[in-house]
Amino acid sequence: MVPRERPRRYHVAIVGPGALGSLFAARLSKVVPVALVGREFAALPEADWVIVLVKAYDTPAAVRTARRMKPLGIVSLQNGLIESVPQGVTTAAAYREGRRVVPVTTGATLLPPGFETLARYLRKAGFEARVVRDIRSARLRKLLANVCLNPVTAAFGVRNGALRKRPYSVFAEVLAEEAAPVLMAEGLAIDPKAAIRRVMDVARTTAGNRSSMLQDVLAGRRTENEHLTGALLRMARRHRLAVPTHAAFHWLIDVIERGLESAGQRRI
Ligand SMILES: NC(=O)c1ccc[n+]([C@@H]2O[C@H](COP(=O)([O-])OP(=O)(O)OC[C@H]3O[C@@H](n4cnc5c(N)ncnc54)[C@H](OP(=O)(O)O)[C@@H]3O)[C@@H](O)[C@H]2O)c1
Repeated sequence: MVPRERPRRYHVAIVGPGALGSLFAARLSKVVPVALVGREFAALPEADWVIVLVKAYDTPAAVRTARRMKPLGIVSLQNGLIESVPQGVTTAAAYREGRRVVPVTTGATLLPPGFETLARYLRKAGFEARVVRDIRSARLRKLLANVCLNPVTAAFGVRNGALRKRPYSVFAEVLAEEAAPVLMAEGLAIDPKAAIRRVMDVARTTAGNRSSMLQDVLAGRRTENEHLTGALLRMARRHRLAVPTHAAFHWLIDVIERGLESAGQRRI
């Protein structure tokens, strides 16, 4: 009887072979064995560390896949607030152009405690990566940038840098001001002025980028609206705080995404 070949155990597996997953896999595979796992992966391998990099709305299935790999740890580097597995944050960026993945930057990656080995692999692969104790604050700061930049750039079809000038700066500032008390109630030490400064800083350092929400809208893909602005709206509701501009952008992006007709409106 021929023994069945056992799947190999990898140092790292990445679930989500898209823009960011491919960027991480391409570099990491130069220093450790890496499995890049897509939706239909016939013989699922085992892996020590699994990074989840699917769009936020695909998380449940991706986490189920990750768990089947019997890992020592699973970490999400997705946008939005993921609660089912530990979550880090990354400013690495890449985008898809047809079947090609275009790397933008390796950025900086922050991981939660327990992922020191993975951080070491990432550094060896050329990423700026470290473990931080207060990962929740890092996640909330990332959410702040996401809920201010993504909806405005996607609604008006402009790059991140446009948010530093009128008229777009008016929206970005109001969104930052409204988000600050909510994030403070969640434990982030940030006041409205600091929130505006942070958002404008991100708009400056990523000026030439198209936000992921803008890219999704332009490509006719589903956006992560529900996991970005939607997450902020749910927090605001929990803390009984008003965020009317976020609510308006949440609705606006939903209408853009679904199309005016399906929202019950008629084009003239
Ligand atoms: N791209 C960036 O620069 C960037 C930067 C920071 C954070 N992020 C965040 O990182 C996450 C991934 O973004 P992305 O731009 O890399 O998205 P993406 O290009 O759409 O890639 C997602 C990939 O995951 C695959 N997938 C979906 N469900 C899966 C499952 N159950 N098992 C395995 N693979 C699955 C998708 O396959 P299909 O094509 O078949 O759907 C696709 O290949 C998002 O949360 C995003 O906000 C992205």
